[in-house]
Amino acid sequence: MESRKLAALLSSLVSQLLLLILLLFPPNSNSSDSHFNNAFPLIHHFLFSQQIAASLSLPTRKRKRVDPEPDQGPQPPSPSPESGLVARSPDSFRSCFRMTASTFEWLSGLLEPLLECRDPAELFPLNLSAGVRLGIGLFRLANGSDYAEISKRFRVSVSVARFCVKQLCRVLCTNFRFWIAFPNSNDELESVSRGFENLSGLPNCGGAIDCARFSVVNSETSREDCIAAQIVVDSSCRILSIVAGFRGHKSNSRILRSTTLYKDIEEGKLLNSSSSSTIIEIKSVAINQYLIGDSEYPFLPWLMIPFAESLPGSCEENFNAAHNLMRISALRTIASLKSWGVLSQPIKEEVKMAVAYIGACSILHNSLLMREDFSALSGGFEDYQFQHQNSNKIRDYKLEEDDSVKTKALIIRSALATRAKKSHNSNS
Ligand SMILES: *[C@@H]1O[C@H](CO)[C@@H](O)[C@H](O)[C@H]1NC(C)=O
Ligand SMILES: *[C@@H]1O[C@H](CO)[C@@H](O)[C@H](O)[C@H]1NC(C)=O
Ligand SMILES: *[C@@H]1O[C@H](CO)[C@@H](O)[C@H](O)[C@H]1NC(C)=O
Ligand SMILES: *[C@@H]1O[C@H](CO)[C@@H](O)[C@H](O)[C@H]1NC(C)=O
Repeated sequence: MESRKLAALLSSLVSQLLLLILLLFPPNSNSSDSHFNNAFPLIHHFLFSQQIAASLSLPTRKRKRVDPEPDQGPQPPSPSPESGLVARSPDSFRSCFRMTASTFEWLSGLLEPLLECRDPAELFPLNLSAGVRLGIGLFRLANGSDYAEISKRFRVSVSVARFCVKQLCRVLCTNFRFWIAFPNSNDELESVSRGFENLSGLPNCGGAIDCARFSVVNSETSREDCIAAQIVVDSSCRILSIVAGFRGHKSNSRILRSTTLYKDIEEGKLLNSSSSSTIIEIKSVAINQYLIGDSEYPFLPWLMIPFAESLPGSCEENFNAAHNLMRISALRTIASLKSWGVLSQPIKEEVKMAVAYIGACSILHNSLLMREDFSALSGGFEDYQFQHQNSNKIRDYKLEEDDSVKTKALIIRSALATRAKKSHNSNS
């Protein structure tokens, strides 16, 4: 937990540094000087502006009838029955942007100088506050409605809407990609593995790996493609690594082997705790850090997959139950990503833009978790009791490991299995 806090602190320091640099050297000084001084009033204006609040919540096409609820701004705090984690009742920011009003305000402050620079000449002067720019971009990501609809809601032209969305994705994917980082210090790795051990009893797990697949439709040819994103997450659904843009028909195993994550782990640059005290011995078997994945993945000393068969009450059955429990964080993360409106339906953009959406939503996912804003996190453990049973998807040819690697993996898994919590505990 200590290192998580430190990482969060560092992230915020880095972004503050970035902001400082931009404040000192505004990239576009003639258009941005007054914005910096007026940052708060502008955001405040946006948050409580009757006109914009109304345009956000108006049902499609009915421009004249103003819903009275958004005029009062965000709802007052009230305890939520379904979860102790969320203290505020659902408000208009949650339904429009998948985040609380305070996260929106925070993000708006953070991104402001970046969103307002480099307006394209043909749209200049854009004359939109950072809050509105962010609102347009987030609404596209969160709700998934098309540009014609967004243009109507926010009363901007389609090309301005398109620009704001692109700009938000660009800023998130370039300036804030450090919100997704694979832990590299022993402290961080330990805190990740403690989280998993808490759940399952299995020590030293460094992450759960899986692939999410999204459909992309070319608007001219109507051709439908599938693209895949490989993610590794910790037990709290924080994304530690994401690589997106693979052809979706490839198996998880082939995707993994084509990533630098695979190369880095094989070369001992990641998940390598052998030089430190974090290495664990069970029944005199040395257990280095490892990932867990479903049986589509190759079975390696650093990648544990479930036992193909297990007898009731055996260690193997306990291991499989513990394994399933740990994998839920990956399934839950994928479900959360897919609940962003723009990723929940076939993406009608070029593949490049679709990949930018996946990146932007992942970065937002992590930044929301960092702020303990759980608005965009989908349901908890209860929802996954059945899903893991039939998660075996496409199986293509198995790339066989050489025997010594497989033997090593088998020995590690058998040793780990003796530590798994009894499977009947896993339902609670
Ligand atoms: C920009 O916005 C300000 C304040 O809302 C307004 O006074 C001004 O006329 C606008 N300029 C343009 C070019 O639209
Ligand atoms: C997008 O907004 C429309 C209109 O407010 C709403 O009906 C729809 O459910 C929203 N979609 C998502 C995915 O939030
Ligand atoms: C593990 O569980 C304990 C008690 O449930 C909790 O206090 C602790 O913060 C957890 N540790 C991690 C790393 O999640
Ligand atoms: C782990 O790193 C050390 C040096 O830090 C290196 O000597 C060792 O070979 C690496 N382990 C693996 C499994 O690659």
